[in-house]
Amino acid sequence: MKFSKTLYPRYSEKLREKIIALDTSPAVIYDKQFITETVKNLQTDLRINEKNQLFFAMKANHNTEILKIFKALGLGIDIASVQEYNLAKKIGFKRISAMNPTFTQSDFSKFDDDTLVDIDSLSQLKRFVSFQKNKTFGLRIKTVGEYCSFGISLSDHLFKYINENRLQRYFKRIHFHNSNRSLVELRKQLEIAINLIDRYPAIDTINLGGDILGFYRSGRHEFLKELFRIKADPVLSKINFIYEPGDALIKYGGMLLTSVIAIKKNADVNYAFLDSSKWISGPWHMGSPIVLNNKTLDDSFQKKYYFFGNTMFSGDTYFDDPITLPELYENDRLLFPEYGAYTLSNYRGFHMLPKPTEYMYIDGTLLKI
Ligand SMILES: Cc1ncc(COP(=O)(O)O)c(C=O)c1O
Repeated sequence: MKFSKTLYPRYSEKLREKIIALDTSPAVIYDKQFITETVKNLQTDLRINEKNQLFFAMKANHNTEILKIFKALGLGIDIASVQEYNLAKKIGFKRISAMNPTFTQSDFSKFDDDTLVDIDSLSQLKRFVSFQKNKTFGLRIKTVGEYCSFGISLSDHLFKYINENRLQRYFKRIHFHNSNRSLVELRKQLEIAINLIDRYPAIDTINLGGDILGFYRSGRHEFLKELFRIKADPVLSKINFIYEPGDALIKYGGMLLTSVIAIKKNADVNYAFLDSSKWISGPWHMGSPIVLNNKTLDDSFQKKYYFFGNTMFSGDTYFDDPITLPELYENDRLLFPEYGAYTLSNYRGFHMLPKPTEYMYIDGTLLKI
């Protein structure tokens, strides 16, 4: 994904110097100003339609200090477990959207009446309505190929169940989410929504899920035109819209500082072993690292490196292919940008290795968080 200059600001001044001076490795460093400006830029775009609401998908990052930033900026929150729900309540989020195909009756009973629960199957709906008689629900609708396990297809028996049990007035929301989205797909989903609203007029909200960067892929201008079209549409103009991105709000706002522990050469292949692990807590995609303090004076002297993490799992590699960088030495420090989302929230405790320490850059200071 190209780094959108309209959505993303510049990193804070002096951040690089502070990171170079930091004596902790590995560490994850967040830039508060960058995160704040990112949210504000997105809010500015979404303000085209006063019925748009921005939520943050907690699955991307559940660091309390990060969540407090989003709360202070007025965002709602998307949760997928009771644990995430409890944290959201503790921080004080008022608008909460909840979706997970495996929510049980006991999970549902822990959510307060204002929580927007979206259902993923007929069995889940039966579980939900069996004890929450007068509560509203949403349905996650499946619009992509059969390979996707999430969502209800339009031919599902669930709709018959809604009609036969007179649940129409409780069916208030439609939820779409899939990755690698486009505006073409958004338009298709809106067509489906218009049809459903015609059949179920109680629907007042469409949750468009995450991957908002997909909507920006054909350019910001095109997405903004789409927002104006929605606002002018006779049906959609009456509907509330929730956007609940994770990646877009925090991916670029966090970066991993890690060190080269060992360099090895086998035949013509160079290996660099780092003090962090992509397998333990790495995002699904990582861009090339920035070398912060390499000693190669001549930048034209480059080598190809395979990067490995600090576990005994042979698949703990950072990239499938070697990365070309200036020659590396032991103790060189690397900075991986794009490390704020789906990293430490995915953390697994292999070898009992600790999580990297987290820092936030606020007003010229790196604070441990
Ligand atoms: C229901 C739902 N909403 C929002 C998101 C956040 O998606 P992204 O981080 O791509 O914006 C996800 C991610 O899996 C999701 O499943």
